[in-house]
Amino acid sequence: MIPIKSQEGIARMRKSCAIAAAVLAKLKEHVRPGITTYDLDQIGRELIAKLGARSADYGYQHNSRRFPAYTCVSVNEEVVHGIGSVKRVLRDGDIVSLDVTVEYKGYIGDNAITVPVGQIAPSLEKLLRVTEQALQIGIRKAQVGGRIGDISSAIQTYVEGHGFSVVRDLVGHGVGVSMHEPPEIPNFGRPGTGDRIKPGMTLAIEPMVNLGGYQTRTLADGWTVVTIDGLPSAHFEHTVLTTQKGPEILTLTQSTSL
Ligand code: MF3
Ligand code: CO
Ligand code: CO
Repeated sequence: MIPIKSQEGIARMRKSCAIAAAVLAKLKEHVRPGITTYDLDQIGRELIAKLGARSADYGYQHNSRRFPAYTCVSVNEEVVHGIGSVKRVLRDGDIVSLDVTVEYKGYIGDNAITVPVGQIAPSLEKLLRVTEQALQIGIRKAQVGGRIGDISSAIQTYVEGHGFSVVRDLVGHGVGVSMHEPPEIPNFGRPGTGDRIKPGMTLAIEPMVNLGGYQTRTLADGWTVVTIDGLPSAHFEHTVLTTQKGPEILTLTQSTSL
C-alpha cells in the first residue's frame, strides 16, 4: 500500500523537504578542489543540526549495518551511498554527488545533486546535464491517473537516447515517515505499468546515470555503490508531491530557509 499523506502530513513534508533543500544548497557551495569528503559530510552534519533537524542517514540500518555518516558523498565512479573520508580529497575535474536526507518532526525530505569540482571534461558536463534533465522529465510524468512505470520509462528513454545507461540495482521510492516507503520507482521500465498515481503521494524520484555500463557493485564497506567499469556516475533527486494540479517539487530551495 502506498501511503497517502493527510493535509497535516503534507504540511510536515513541506517543512522537512525545505530543510533538506536548504542544507543541500548550502553544502554545494563548499565543493572545491582540495576539500575532503569527510569535511563535506561534517559541514552537512552542522547545517542539519543548525536547522533543528536530524540526519535520516546516520544510523540508518541495512543488512544489519548502520550508516556511519550524516550525508552521502559519492565521487566519480561512486554511484550513491559514499561515506565521507579524510582520505578522499576532491580534485579538479571530479564530479561529486551530495545526497541529503533529513527528518524533522517525524517526516523526511530527500534530495541530491551532482556537482562539478573545478573544471570538468565536456563528457562529464553532458552526463550531469542529461541526469538533471532526466529527473525533470521523470517528475513531469508523476501525474495523477498515470502509473509509476510512466516515470520509469520516461527517464530510461531519455537517458539511453543520449548514450548513457541507467542503474538497475537501486531505485527511487516513496518517502514520508520512513525514508523508504512504497512504491519503488525504478529508472527503467514500461509506460502504463506499476502502481497508479493518486493525489497525496510523496515520491523521491532519483535517476542514477552511468557514463558506461549500467552494472554496479557494493564495496567492502557495505555501503558505497560503484560502477563495475569504473566510469563516472551522476545522481539527482527531488521529493515530489502528487496533486490533481500536477507534480509539486517539495525540495526546491526557498531563499528564506537559511
Ligand atoms: N538518500 C538515500 C536515498 O535517496 C538513502 C540514504 S542511504 C543511507 O534513498 F544509508 F545513507 F542512509
Ligand atoms: Co537521497
Ligand atoms: Co532517495
